Amino acid sequence: MIRFLITGHSRGLGAALAREALARGGAVWGLARRSLNPPPGVGPERFRETAVDLGDLPRLVRVLEDLDLETWLAGSAMVVLINNAGLLGPVGPPERLAATEIVRAAAVDFVAPLVLTSVFARATVGLPDRRVVHVSSGAARRPLAGWGVYGAVKAGLDHHARTVAVDAPAGWRIASVAPGVIDTDMQTEVRGLDPAVFPERRRFLDLARDGLLVPPEAAARRFLDHVTSDVFGREPVIDLRSLGDDPRS
Ligand SMILES: NC(=O)c1ccc[n+]([C@@H]2O[C@H](COP(=O)([O-])OP(=O)(O)OC[C@H]3O[C@@H](n4cnc5c(N)ncnc54)[C@H](OP(=O)(O)O)[C@@H]3O)[C@@H](O)[C@H]2O)c1
Repeated sequence: MIRFLITGHSRGLGAALAREALARGGAVWGLARRSLNPPPGVGPERFRETAVDLGDLPRLVRVLEDLDLETWLAGSAMVVLINNAGLLGPVGPPERLAATEIVRAAAVDFVAPLVLTSVFARATVGLPDRRVVHVSSGAARRPLAGWGVYGAVKAGLDHHARTVAVDAPAGWRIASVAPGVIDTDMQTEVRGLDPAVFPERRRFLDLARDGLLVPPEAAARRFLDHVTSDVFGREPVIDLRSLGDDPRS
């Protein structure tokens, strides 16, 4: 059985990933502030969740110490950490951003994934196939005005994946994956941004108007196909849109 530890499993892409992983017969442990209703018939042996605010780093560290991941993951043929939880954070040029919002975005989008990767690496020593996926963004690779914080933290995840890939612990694969533009709450937030601080807002409005947002369920299928495949991790930084299939299939 493949066991998945998924952050931000309560909504959006993370909820679709959790449901798809369960539909494929896997087991899921979700970490988010809110919960997800598991599909009918899925019991605690295949689905569990822990309520945690990934922006509260001292509490996150305490929660992780109590999880006993080793026992849950023991004996699995493949174990996968998906650092999916994220927020857009403050948008605008630096002089307009509140320090507290910068700190919060950096904690949720960047520090928590690094902490989780480390905890996961320790909990999975000796397992034959252990994989870490950071959910990145095209904004990590192309600067978008106003998105300095979001772009920087996602670029940080990209570089963390490149670097840990070089560390190459036994049985280990890691990649930072940009998932494409997906129809979630985050996209609703993007379309609501003030164009004075986010000049590319029009492009995102057009994508939604033209039906070009990928449904979360389709994105999750494609994402899991890649993450569980033999090629996963050969490239530590990848964009799902570069893989060739129709993302809306
Ligand atoms: N949507 C897109 O077009 C797009 C494009 C590129 C990359 N991404 C990336 O894809 C990932 C998922 O995004 P999404 O579009 O699905 O976003 P979303 O619909 O806003 O969902 C965000 C998820 O992250 C969790 N989360 C947010 N803040 C959290 C916190 N403080 N503690 C714990 N969990 C938290 C939320 O759970 P709770 O609210 O229950 O805590 C929720 O499950 C993100 O990393 C995002 O940057 C999205």
